[in-house]
Amino acid sequence: MPIVPEALRDLASSFEGRSIISMRDFSTDEILMILEVAKSFESERRPLLQGRILGSLFFEPSTRTRISFDTAMKRLGGQVIGFVDPSSTSLEKGESLDDTIRVVEGYCDAIIMRHPFEGAARLADDTTRLPVINGGDGSNQHPTQTFLDLYTLKKAKGTLEGLKIAFVGDLKFGRTVHSLAETMARFSPKLHLISPPSLRMPRHILDELAETGGGFTESTDLEAIEPGVDVIYATRIQKERFPDFMEYERVKNAYSLDASLLDKVGRNVSILHPLPRVNEIHPSLDDYEGALYFRQAHNGVIVRMALLALLLGACNE
Ligand code: CP
Repeated sequence: MPIVPEALRDLASSFEGRSIISMRDFSTDEILMILEVAKSFESERRPLLQGRILGSLFFEPSTRTRISFDTAMKRLGGQVIGFVDPSSTSLEKGESLDDTIRVVEGYCDAIIMRHPFEGAARLADDTTRLPVINGGDGSNQHPTQTFLDLYTLKKAKGTLEGLKIAFVGDLKFGRTVHSLAETMARFSPKLHLISPPSLRMPRHILDELAETGGGFTESTDLEAIEPGVDVIYATRIQKERFPDFMEYERVKNAYSLDASLLDKVGRNVSILHPLPRVNEIHPSLDDYEGALYFRQAHNGVIVRMALLALLLGACNE
């Protein structure tokens, strides 16, 4: 079986050398192509990336993104260099991000970077000729999380079209909901945005949803989730982004989903969460077959295998 179906070959080839900074950089056809190619990596184990090196630069903590990129690269025969603790690097001596990227580009074939500042991934991309993958830039975007969220949703629901989705939690600082809501707007969804008043989805995303997504409703109350909803996408309150600690204390326990929710919304609902969770999803939900958050995290490996193979031009087998 070819990794890329014949009909998608040109689109897949054009992906070589691309960076992954924002979902806005990708056409809907490209997004669907990536999800199709990712299916091949459920079983693909050839060393397609032997001799290739990924530079992994994490300026912020991560479990899933960093380790699943490591796993993806190594499963395809490649290697990973980099750091998880910027305090152990020459940034501590005052080296700029710009210079760090210029140096690392001489050591590897692609760069995955997580950084606390919005726009840092775009800056890195402007600095280097290598493909740059945004592993999360502040509260802005987390595009590879969106690809794995879409993959998980399509597998669970059979389609991305017309889904009724409730986003719950920190919609202001949560980069995963920004990337995913903007992308889902292309698929005629019915969106419910549920957050504390101080953590509403940013205005520019609401405007975009109104223009492209066929509208949305907003609420502060979990009761606004309607029976028959297809998906609940919960997020953590992003403690590390709050300028005011007291405001975090006020909202930190705003929502906790538990098994009693299923009596109200029904058992068709798929529950996603980018993880880590704190107390937004009670463990009583973990055994529910529609609780997809751990499968979602595991899907990160195959989706990231597909992305790495595409941008390093290794999908022409
Ligand atoms: N979902 C996610 O980005 O998790 P990590 O912060 O652990 O990478």
